[in-house]
Amino acid sequence: MLSRFYLSLLLLSGLVFIAFITLATYRELTPEWKKYQAEYREMLIKNAKDEAAREKARRIKIEQQQIYLAGLKRVDRCMNCHIGVDNPLMADAKVPFKQHSGDYLKNHPPDKFGCTICHNGQGRATNKKEAHGKGRDTHWDFPILPFKYIQNSCAQCHDYETLRHKGGEMVVKGERLFREKGCKGCHKVNGIGGDLGKALDGIGSQPIAYFPMRHVVGEQTTYNWLKQHYLDPRAIVPDSEMRVFLTEEESDLLTTYILTFRTTEVPREYRRIRYVPERRVDGESLYKMYCIACHSTGKVSVYDEILKRTIPAIMNPAFLKNADDGTLRKIIKEGRKGTQMTAWKSTAAGLTDGEINKLIRYITRERPDEAAEPFGFAEFKTDPKHGKELYDVRCALCHGEKGKGGKGALGINLTNPVVQKELDPEFLARTVRDGRSGTPMPPFGEEGLGLSDQDIADIVSYVRTLAQKK
Ligand code: HEC
Ligand code: HEC
Ligand code: HEC
Ligand code: HEC
Ligand code: HEC
Ligand code: HEC
Repeated sequence: MLSRFYLSLLLLSGLVFIAFITLATYRELTPEWKKYQAEYREMLIKNAKDEAAREKARRIKIEQQQIYLAGLKRVDRCMNCHIGVDNPLMADAKVPFKQHSGDYLKNHPPDKFGCTICHNGQGRATNKKEAHGKGRDTHWDFPILPFKYIQNSCAQCHDYETLRHKGGEMVVKGERLFREKGCKGCHKVNGIGGDLGKALDGIGSQPIAYFPMRHVVGEQTTYNWLKQHYLDPRAIVPDSEMRVFLTEEESDLLTTYILTFRTTEVPREYRRIRYVPERRVDGESLYKMYCIACHSTGKVSVYDEILKRTIPAIMNPAFLKNADDGTLRKIIKEGRKGTQMTAWKSTAAGLTDGEINKLIRYITRERPDEAAEPFGFAEFKTDPKHGKELYDVRCALCHGEKGKGGKGALGINLTNPVVQKELDPEFLARTVRDGRSGTPMPPFGEEGLGLSDQDIADIVSYVRTLAQKK
């Protein structure tokens, strides 16, 4: 009884084993692509117009299709399945038999360009999953791109002027958004830009493992990470200080553009970059490129929940009235250590003196004609001790006990080296006396909250002892 049971078990496992071997051999002998090529041949035979064409179709061999691209250092076998891409008879067929849409292959013949230079994917692979490179288990970092991102590839070889008119509209729009949304306010590219985020050079060539994928919804790909991170940085990287507000469409366009930041370069003979004279960049464009992400219109002083500090209104007439060009130049060049405001000078964020001057001209275009009334700080004998008493009661509430501003405090940072050493105490005293109308900073002078000039001078002398530790 028992032995019969074991016997049948043995027999069964033997059968299962044979079935496995057969299946494996069958798979080996009939790779996925052979099936597509056979189907393709059937289609051609069936649709042939005459006997000659039919005979020609019958003679088509089912064989490995591969394009060896020495210059591009790759081997593409996509045409193993996408066998009809250059056959006009396949205009209405379904993918993978379909003739390629547009003039793409006419302009870029497959034997010279292959497919992966535009589409990505794993050229050598012979089954669909591996070739398309989708899914973490394919271990391929550059899966075929959704069409909405594919135009990043064109920029490897073409300039933006050409692409604007010839099939690269999306990457052109992405490039423009990158300039206008202030990305370089926090990111360097080619050594120029702010330093709150990392330099973006080469980011499009990073392996998938570089990106923290934990919170990404759907496919774990670079393009999905980028898009979802633009739409909501803190959903992907908790506590991120990236301050962007983008629509779904803008996020897609920027994804397309950022993927052009590669570490690889195609050989010269593949490139068609025309010389385009450098665009003249005016103050407004510079402001958008480097400042707008944080300062927005420059007209509002807001406590920002992302940066966890107040971003001052730098185009507010009450500020400009008091801040002359020299003061602005110092602040912009040196930044404000201890806050997110970068030093923009050429040895730090990389702006030239000429560019900083253009920015100043732009920021000050609504400066009132009349300058602030002089305070005469130098004429006062000051008492910082008395100043501290007043500061603790009148100012600490907003600027913090130690003057650092920051989390939860409305006032800006008074401890950084610029306020401490570079700015004229005269400027600080006038600010305290007159306040900044249109912002929370109140006027403390006699016409405002009623402190005497002596009190104000004392406070300023105390403020100037609040140097940043370290
Ligand atoms: C083993 C067969 C096979 C290979 C090899 C293959 N593909 Fe495909 N491909 C298909 C099939 C089948 C489809 C139709 C859609 C589907 O089933 O996913 C397709 C669809 C596509 C699409 C359209 C996707 C869409 O969203 O409409 C693109 C683009 C593509 N393949 C590119 C490539 C590239 C590039 C390669 C080479 C790296 C490649 N394929 C290799 C079989 C293959
Ligand atoms: C010069 C860049 C470029 C090259 C090279 C290229 N493609 Fe495409 N391909 C595109 C673009 C762009 C689209 C999107 C078409 C559109 O939106 O009109 C596309 C679309 C497709 C599609 C979707 C079906 C269709 O035609 O609409 C498939 C499949 C495809 N390509 C496969 C291939 C294969 C296989 C090769 C290699 C023989 C290849 N492509 C080479 C740029 C390219
Ligand atoms: C690997 C480099 C490379 C890539 C990637 C590439 N091209 Fe090209 N492209 C070329 C070269 C080289 C030519 C041929 C120019 C010639 O024959 O003089 C060309 C020709 C063209 C032409 C026809 C010539 C013209 O100026 O009218 C167009 C249009 C074009 N490409 C658009 C695109 C678009 C759109 C993409 C992205 C979907 C793209 N190319 C991707 C290198 C590339
Ligand atoms: C206010 C500053 C700020 C602005 C403006 C900003 N970013 Fe960021 N960005 C950051 C910070 C901080 C990080 C690191 C934390 C994170 O990944 O979210 C970051 C991360 C990134 C990353 C991932 C980089 C890497 O190597 O991990 C990319 C890509 C990126 N930003 C692109 C952009 C683009 C494109 C824009 C313009 C639309 C932009 N950023 C605007 C601050 C900023
Ligand atoms: C990453 C965000 C960010 C970017 C980008 C940025 N700033 Fe600022 N900026 C700040 C913050 C925050 C402060 C306030 C710092 C403090 O608390 O002292 C500030 C302060 C200033 C001040 C001082 C205002 C005052 O009341 O004294 C000026 C002027 C200024 N920024 C100009 C610029 C210019 C010009 C650019 C572009 C070249 C720029 N900022 C880019 C965040 C930024
Ligand atoms: C109700 C909150 C509040 C109080 C109280 C307050 N401040 Fe301010 N202060 C601010 C804000 C907000 C700014 C930035 C305004 C802007 O330009 O957007 C500021 C700006 C300043 C500046 C300009 C710094 C610079 O680098 O341009 C100085 C100096 C200053 N405050 C000193 C003081 C002193 C001293 C006191 C107390 C006598 C005081 N503040 C009280 C909110 C306050």
